[in-house]
Formats: sequence, structure tokens, C-alpha cells
Amino acid sequence: MRILGIESSCDETAAAIVADGREILSNVVASQVELHRKYGGVVPELASREHLRQIVPVVREASEQAGMRLADVDAIGVTRGPGLVGSLLVGVTYGKALAKSLDKPLIGVNHLEGHVHAVLLEAWRTAKSPKFPAVCLIVSGGHTLLYSIEAAATQKDPLAVQLRYKRLGGTRDDAAGEAYDKVAKLLELGYPGGPVIDQLAAAAARNGTKADGPRFGTTKTRGNRYDFSFSGIKTAVLYYVRAHPEFVTEARPRRAALREGKRKASELMPLCSPVTLELLAEFQRTVVRDLVRPTLEAAEELHAESVLVSGGVAANAELRQTFEKEAARRGCETYFPSRALSTDNAAMIAAAAYPHLLAGELADEALDAEAIFPLS
Ligand code: KG4
Ligand code: ZN
Repeated sequence: MRILGIESSCDETAAAIVADGREILSNVVASQVELHRKYGGVVPELASREHLRQIVPVVREASEQAGMRLADVDAIGVTRGPGLVGSLLVGVTYGKALAKSLDKPLIGVNHLEGHVHAVLLEAWRTAKSPKFPAVCLIVSGGHTLLYSIEAAATQKDPLAVQLRYKRLGGTRDDAAGEAYDKVAKLLELGYPGGPVIDQLAAAAARNGTKADGPRFGTTKTRGNRYDFSFSGIKTAVLYYVRAHPEFVTEARPRRAALREGKRKASELMPLCSPVTLELLAEFQRTVVRDLVRPTLEAAEELHAESVLVSGGVAANAELRQTFEKEAARRGCETYFPSRALSTDNAAMIAAAAYPHLLAGELADEALDAEAIFPLS
């Protein structure tokens, strides 16, 4: 079963062909990051216009890379939501038109279920198979969500299994990736902020923690203990910077460097003082701690056998190391996508469509984009 996946929920136009929900035959992602960079975040109107420009060539390239004609795919899976409605509409409309003209079954895929399948795709590639029940943390620029996942016991093929999700918690305010992007903007470290802060914080950690550096406490949320909150840490960094004007002076050369296109961590590192690196390291330690603790507590309470972590922030080195270490201590295995599958892509959408295709859960012409589309 070769499924063409189409993804356009945010700022990546993506198409991929995946066989049997596991084997990636092609995976094409056109990122709009350059377009949104000067605004420090995704501008919805620009995003949908760019999806319109990219969707046809991206799908064509996915078919060429897989060495097959679109007429030879068995089905089409398209992201239905959640996401930016104008962006989603481009993929949904194109997917529907393509399915109709080629007379192929169409599956409307939940983007969040796609992120779960990104983990399963990677596990399959490395000949592993996460055991269920599991908990899954989806952590990106748009989402910070925690689910429990159970699998219908009857299926032998783990990738064909229908998964059942229950939402355990989510962010009350900013997504974790959003906090990375805002802190990076404040300190003139470019956009998106996550990958650069990841590397700069690692450099600070290698130099050891300074006794007089900033310390941010654990964020406590009232009510649901599996909820998250990241606006507090973002504001704490802002206040810390305001109280120390040298951070602002130091940021100016970085702004100039970014204007010249020098945005790699290696280019920005010499323009960062040890206190800036220490601030970034403490910011990251706080975010990682606030993500790992509720996830592992949920895993323990639900007797989960595996912890799945997906979404753009799942690429973070410290997050991965901390999860692996802490989960192992509690007898749980942690699974991540490869870095390429962590961020938005269409291979995960094609993979997520597969069990629904097998179960005959097909979409019709009424399929619509859903800005808000809960997984459970
Ligand atoms: O999943 P994604 O590509 O897009 C959505 O937001 O849906 O995630 C992008 C987010 C951005 O906020 C980016 O700063 C963050 O993921 N990110 C990272 C890392 N790589 C990307 N955050 C922390 N560490 C990273 N290595
Ligand atoms: Zn996503």
C-alpha cells in the first residue's frame, strides 16, 4: 500500500510516499523559514500564499524521488488539522482534487497523530517496536501536549494498529518551541531559536555551571498536574535581561551578524559572553525539566512501557539525553523520531494514514480543514 502524504498545516509544504506505513520512498519538505524569518514567527497570510506556490512542485518531486507516477499510489493522506486554517486549506483542497482526478481513496489525517507516527517510522527503521501502553509528548512551536496511547491488542502488525489516544495535559499558554523562539528573538539569536539555543546551551554546559548565574525555578501549574506552562520562563528571562543592561549591549553585534546572514551557532558563539551562554543553559535546563517531569510521572502512574517524544523540540540534545537517562531509571524505554522526522513532514502523515486506510476510514468530498482538531 503506497500512500502519498500531503502536509501544509503550518510553514512547511511537504509531500512524501510511504509504503505500508513504514518504508519511506520519498520525503520532500519545502520550508518557508526564510520567508518568516524577518518577522520572528510564522505569518499566516504569507504561509498560505507560499503553500499555494509550492504544493504542485513538491508533490511532483515526491513522486519523482520515489520513482513512481502519482497514478500508481494506492491512496492519498492529507493533514486535516490542527493548524493554520488558510495553510491547511491548500493541502486539503489539493488532496481532494488529486484523489478525485486519480480516483484514489482519501484519508484526512490528524497532524498530531502524524507526529506519533514519526516516532513509529523511526523505530521501525531501527528494527524496534515501542510497547503499549505508552505516553507521548508532542512538543513543537505550536504544541505542547501529553497523551496516553493504547493499541488495539488484536493486530499483529504494530504499524497497522489503530491507536487510541487520551489527552492527559497540555500547555496553558506558550508552546515550548515558542518559548525558545521568543528567547532567541530577545537575545538576537535568529529564528527559529531552538536549534541555535540547543548548541549554545551545550557549550555553556561543557564549561560548567557558574554559582552566581541565573536560576529559574520549576513552573507549577494549579489543577491538572500534567499541564505545562512556558510563559513564566519566557518572562523570567525577559526580566533578567532587563535587570542586566549588558545583555542588550552585547546583543547588538549579533543583530548585525544576523543581518549579514551569519546565523549558525558557530558564528554567533564568539559574540556571546559566558553570562549569555549561562542564561541560555539555565533557560534550557528549566524547559527540559518542566517537560520531562510531568511526562515521566504520567508514565509511572499509567504503567506505560514506552515514552514517545515528537515534534520540533524533540530534536533538542539535552531533552533527548535527559529523557533517556530518567526514563531508563524508571524502567521505561524512550523513543524519538530522527531529527529530520521531528519537524513537520509528510512521511509521518502518510504513515498515520495507513491504519485508517486499512480500517476503511475514508474521507469524502466534505473533508474540510479544521484549525482546532483534538486527537481525543
Ligand atoms: O514541529 P516544528 O517544525 O513546527 C511546528 O511548530 O509545528 O517545530 C518547530 C519548533 C520551533 O519553535 C523551533 O525553535 C523548535 O521547534 N526547535 C527546537 C530545536 N529544533 C527545532 N527547539 C529546541 N531544540 C532544538 N534542537
Ligand atoms: Zn507539527
